[in-house]
Amino acid sequence: MNRLPGLLLTTILSLCLIAPLQLGAQTDGAESVAAPPTILITGANRGLGLEFARQYADRGYRIIATARRPDSADELQALAANYPLIAIEALDVTDFEQIDLLAEKYRGQPIDILLNNAGITGDPFKTQVFGKIDYSVYDQIMHVNALAPLKMAEAFYDHVLSSQQKKIITVSSSMGSIATTFGTGYFYRSSKSALNMMMATLAKEKRKKGIIVGLVNPGAVATDMMAAMKGRMELRDPVVAAADVIRNIDNLTVETTGSFVEYDGTPLPW
Ligand SMILES: NC(=O)c1ccc[n+]([C@@H]2O[C@H](COP(=O)([O-])OP(=O)(O)OC[C@H]3O[C@@H](n4cnc5c(N)ncnc54)[C@H](OP(=O)(O)O)[C@@H]3O)[C@@H](O)[C@H]2O)c1
Repeated sequence: MNRLPGLLLTTILSLCLIAPLQLGAQTDGAESVAAPPTILITGANRGLGLEFARQYADRGYRIIATARRPDSADELQALAANYPLIAIEALDVTDFEQIDLLAEKYRGQPIDILLNNAGITGDPFKTQVFGKIDYSVYDQIMHVNALAPLKMAEAFYDHVLSSQQKKIITVSSSMGSIATTFGTGYFYRSSKSALNMMMATLAKEKRKKGIIVGLVNPGAVATDMMAAMKGRMELRDPVVAAADVIRNIDNLTVETTGSFVEYDGTPLPW
């Protein structure tokens, strides 16, 4: 019994010596357990954004999940309740002041992946049919789909630059490709084309800094965005579509920066 305190001390001392080695720690006493990578996702409350949050949470990422109305983002809140590394932040991507404030809040926090996911179509079958085009919706669609991702890249540039992965990714669409195969959707299509050009330009400009810019098309996915197409065309499972986008994000390197790819990784015509 008298030996117990000594034994305890020996055990504690050996644990202190062995534990850092097991964690791959340096022996200088510095904290060396690698911090989890961080991703910021816009529009993370539903659709693909929510699925990205789920899958990156499973991978152990620290997630800054943004939503216009966090109070009513029930599914995202339920997810965050199970994953303490998810922080939910209010963000309307058309509010550039709010973007700057959020970037300021996270100043000094490296962000490995900035994932511009938020997007709108503006109800193309009602507002963007030739002969009945509602020009009043154009500005909003451009604002969300094209201007906001560029503003996000500007505001969070330092956060991404200071990270390990340095990736700025935007969910684009084959609807923005010039090799379009059918009509309608004038504003949605042109907003994604504009987005593509902005990101291709950013890729060229920041390549030397090691920034990796990517544009990925998830395919036609069964989310609210495609509710009108349900039953009219085959829609992809959001779980599979998000996994495809993530695989493309993983595969992107500085050599392939600025690429615009289909979910299976094949290049899409601009
Ligand atoms: N689904 C497809 O077939 C498909 C195909 C190609 C590309 N995409 C692209 O994939 C991305 C995600 O689409 P989805 O299918 O997941 O669509 P979704 O289910 O309609 O979700 C859209 C997301 O964007 C958010 N959003 C819209 N306006 C916003 C704003 N001003 N500020 C912040 N967030 C805003 C929405 O938030 P609220 O809930 O607040 O509205 C929602 O979280 C979009 O960029 C879309 O263009 C989708």
